[in-house]
Amino acid sequence: MAFKKLVVGYDGSESSQKALEKAIALAKELNAELHIVGVVRPFEFAAIDYIPPEEIEEYEKEEISKEEKYLSEAKKIAEEKGIEPFTKVMEGEPAEELMSYADENGCDLIVVGHRGVGGFKRMLLGSTANNLVKYANQSVLVVK
Ligand SMILES: Nc1ncnc2c1ncn2[C@@H]1O[C@H](COP(=O)(O)OP(=O)(O)OP(=O)(O)O)[C@@H](O)[C@H]1O
Ligand SMILES: [Mg+2]
Repeated sequence: MAFKKLVVGYDGSESSQKALEKAIALAKELNAELHIVGVVRPFEFAAIDYIPPEEIEEYEKEEISKEEKYLSEAKKIAEEKGIEPFTKVMEGEPAEELMSYADENGCDLIVVGHRGVGGFKRMLLGSTANNLVKYANQSVLVVK
């Protein structure tokens, strides 16, 4: 059975760019829909410091607009290859948000890179990719 709706997690990292390229090629070949999703993590508090709410809000706004920029770049890459993708910025924990998106939109394949922006070079598999493989209801393609 072929896949009909692909969702790729895009965080702007080199690894996620590779995942995007593969997802585009696959969507073309399968004549499938392509969804590109970027997840912004909420601000993480360091317990020792007081941070004014305005600064947190400012930080989150910046993160969202950074992700929107990544997604418009990703959209352009897909369009150049003849694919018209859906894009969405979500807020929360990346693996959880990607899973909810896939569930709610009827996606049948989740495509991600093996590493992202946060990881150490020595890590073979980042935590987002790892959690998706473990917990997603859909098949997961981890691009290397
Ligand atoms: N915030 C995000 N939004 C969308 N996709 C993401 C996000 N974070 C990760 N991904 C997807 O998951 C892939 C693997 O990233 P992952 O987060 O697992 O690795 P990492 O950042 O190197 O490690 P860690 O997050 O555990 O420090 C990325 O290539 C990308 O496809
Ligand atoms: Mg990460």
